[in-house]
Amino acid sequence: MKSILITGGAGFIGNHVVRRFVNNYPQYTIVNLDALTYAGNLENLTDIQQAKNYFFEKATILDTKILEQIFEKYRITDVINLAAESHVDRSILSPLDFVYTNVVGTVQLLNTAKKFWQDDISKHLFYQISTDEVYGTLGETGLFTEQTPYQPNSPYSASKASADHFVRAFGETFHLPYIISNCSNNYGPYQFPEKLIPLVIHNMVNQKPVPVYGDGLNTRDWLYVEDHAAAIDLVFHKSKPYKTYNIGGHNEWKNIDIVNLIASIIDQTLNRPVDSSKQLIRFVKDRPGHDRRYAIDASCIQKELGWLPQTQFEIGIHKTINWYLNHEDWVQKIVNGSYQDYYQTQYL
Ligand code: NAD
Ligand code: TYD
Repeated sequence: MKSILITGGAGFIGNHVVRRFVNNYPQYTIVNLDALTYAGNLENLTDIQQAKNYFFEKATILDTKILEQIFEKYRITDVINLAAESHVDRSILSPLDFVYTNVVGTVQLLNTAKKFWQDDISKHLFYQISTDEVYGTLGETGLFTEQTPYQPNSPYSASKASADHFVRAFGETFHLPYIISNCSNNYGPYQFPEKLIPLVIHNMVNQKPVPVYGDGLNTRDWLYVEDHAAAIDLVFHKSKPYKTYNIGGHNEWKNIDIVNLIASIIDQTLNRPVDSSKQLIRFVKDRPGHDRRYAIDASCIQKELGWLPQTQFEIGIHKTINWYLNHEDWVQKIVNGSYQDYYQTQYL
């Protein structure tokens, strides 16, 4: 019987993964451990918070004592580690926060897993959720494969790369079974509105300026978040240990093209004059160390596990914009900070 510790489950990708595992695997115990930093929002999970196989623990992955108590209490058999500081711009302002959570926190989790699983370590799995940003930047051509050398350029990607190295090292040194998947940019419901797509939607809806960094020609490979959750589910259940998979959307967009697309969908949906939202775009100073292009070769996970993204971008972006339009209250609570009261009212 599996008892899976999912960390960072109150965040953007985490809530989709937790929901999927709670709903699809009623026989598993799913423990969501989250520190509820500014990026964690338990309201993302109200639909499943009463499920019999779901448990929430407010804790940081930096606290070994609490980690040990949780491993003991739930007899944790597997870990899926999504807890992280995840925003590149914040990592430029405050690199050490990223070292603590992303590097030290991951090592604390690895140490705890190693300690609790020592009798039969081969029966367990430590699954690290990572990013394509560890590979650095691409020029006009080429794709990141699982063999591309790590060359991180931002404090965020350097911290994620470091964590990946520790996971691999625990596999080599202590035979801790691990999997790492490196995914491209996700989009979809419940993304914190500091990231490009929700920020653009929110600002356009509210007729605020939309900042586009540099020349707007930086390129990202966008994947619908539920497709990522499906890939994580598949990899968790079907992959052999000691493997790495790249996950991507086969879906490259220049930032300015995506911003223009969102503008035209919002104008149409809200019956605004054609091109009115585009007037809000402002080209601003570039992000330092701004990676030019990310693009994933996801052929390995396709060939070995049969995974392909299911959501066409045109459908996914409409769904996402509609979700944000129908959840303005969710965004407003983030903007005014009241989302952080939810834990107090529901759990204390
Ligand atoms: P997010 O910022 O939305 O969520 C992170 C979650 O981790 C939050 O709920 C936060 O409260 C929690 N957290 C932060 N510090 C913690 C700590 N010390 N202890 C416990 N919990 C803590 O991030 P996301 O976009 O959902 O990303 C999740 C994971 O996926 C990250 O590891 C990220 O590097 C990776 N990833 C993200 C993307 C993307 O496009 N968003 C793409 C590839 C990989
Ligand atoms: P972001 O969502 O922060 O993801 P990442 O940096 O991890 O790829 O940004 C996506 C792209 O959008 C990236 O090239 C930076 C750019 N960007 C803007 O142009 N303006 C913004 O306000 C933000 C947040 C991002």
